[in-house]
Amino acid sequence: MRDHFEIRDADGAGRIGRLDVPRAGRTVETPALLPVINPNMLTIEPSRLESEFGVDILITNSYIIRQTESLRQQALNDGLHELLNFDGAVMTDSGSFQLSEYGDIDVTTEEILKFQHEIGSDIGTPVDIPTPPDVSREQAQSDLEITEQALADAESLDLGEMLINAPVQGSTYPDLREEAGRHAAATDLDVFPIGAVVPMMNNYRYDDLVHTVAAAKRGLSVDCPVHLFGAGHPMMLALAVALGCDLFDSAAYALYARAGRYLTVSGTQQLDDLDYFPCSCPICVTHTPEEIRQQNDDERERLLAEHNLHVTFEELRRIKQAIRSGNLLELVDRRARGHPSMYDGYRALLDHADQLEREDPVSKGTFFYTSPESARRPEVLRHHERLDRLSTPDRLLLTEAGAPGSDEYDAAWRVVPPFGPFPRELSESYPFTAAVPDRPDRGGQIAAAEGVRRLVETNPNTEFTLAVEAWHADAIEEIPDRVTVESMKDVREGFGTE
Ligand code: GUN
Ligand code: ZN
Repeated sequence: MRDHFEIRDADGAGRIGRLDVPRAGRTVETPALLPVINPNMLTIEPSRLESEFGVDILITNSYIIRQTESLRQQALNDGLHELLNFDGAVMTDSGSFQLSEYGDIDVTTEEILKFQHEIGSDIGTPVDIPTPPDVSREQAQSDLEITEQALADAESLDLGEMLINAPVQGSTYPDLREEAGRHAAATDLDVFPIGAVVPMMNNYRYDDLVHTVAAAKRGLSVDCPVHLFGAGHPMMLALAVALGCDLFDSAAYALYARAGRYLTVSGTQQLDDLDYFPCSCPICVTHTPEEIRQQNDDERERLLAEHNLHVTFEELRRIKQAIRSGNLLELVDRRARGHPSMYDGYRALLDHADQLEREDPVSKGTFFYTSPESARRPEVLRHHERLDRLSTPDRLLLTEAGAPGSDEYDAAWRVVPPFGPFPRELSESYPFTAAVPDRPDRGGQIAAAEGVRRLVETNPNTEFTLAVEAWHADAIEEIPDRVTVESMKDVREGFGTE
């Protein structure tokens, strides 16, 4: 059990947790978003982040502070919290990102971690190597060895109560990411950022992002708090939380504001293209897009940054409530409709339904079938995998309708897309309380047929009859030949059901 992190609630692989940050004397609720503060360029004052946005943890760059003489002196004399005028928890990065952008930095893990400790950081970061996507396997491997050495160097230092990040690298090689996750989790370091994903997000490669995070998570243990380094666009937060990421950092709110860009949960808009604001944050209810366009550069940037941050925190609250209500995957499904690359990300997430299933609570709020992708959700997979636990009688009718009043069968089970067959007594149990459409789609019918096939294969001594409304030929195709398939009409006429 890791000392500093406690999981309170879960949905999919997503969770609400508490990260104890002893040096700050704070417990941070996760999922949390850490605004990135560039100490040279304060778009929004950190004290305002705390009082107006409820921010209790932020991230800044210790390398920039160390390289800037005035900041360095002030941080050493007065401390980081005083420098930033912020009372909450402060995480510091190491300069690794500068390393990946500019190729070289002149500081070691020992030097930068001691500096972070000296200026009063609450969570420090060693010098990892952010290996970009698609490099050769040899490079990914040799970079990873350097990162793992940096973790060992960090482990050997005595830095009091400061928590320490153990970044997970490995480029786009899932086995290396998994190995890196396993290695990091075996250290006694505290927080586990998944690194070098910014280039994937910049190129809208959300499917690759999902496979990368899923691989790292397989190596990390469930109780590791996971940070997705450089991720903070509101459109992707639900997806990343559903994969089991707990911490995010957003430079996007400020960088996009500088470029005149307005964040929404379904993508980014140019301020210049907007006639109306779709948002009700304090900025959007008191200004029109035209009024913001009229402002001078600094003021326009500040107003956009504030909106960007409001919309991001609003989404984070929505995500947390979705975890509590058990409908996080419905939210991810909704976000997948906002942008084709998010749709790719959602479909990639469902490629890992087995991995999500291992952490998904066995019972939660009503399952809503909201798209063909719902058929691939972990709850459906779980039902299919547990069908072999049910015992079947000699002659079993599987029917989409009510029970027939006939003694031709020993029992009549319901069959509901996407789940497939289940005994009538389970109708009031999760997930069969699902709200499903009256017009099931092909994907839902195929998933239900898959359930029928599994039940039939594990019960060779049972005689099965399947009675369904006109199912898609691809679903009927799935049904083993030995099952008698009847249309609902015949069943109704034969037995006067309902
Ligand atoms: N910020 C964004 N990506 C990274 C990364 O991979 N490592 C570090 N240290 N900081 C980052
Ligand atoms: Zn707004």
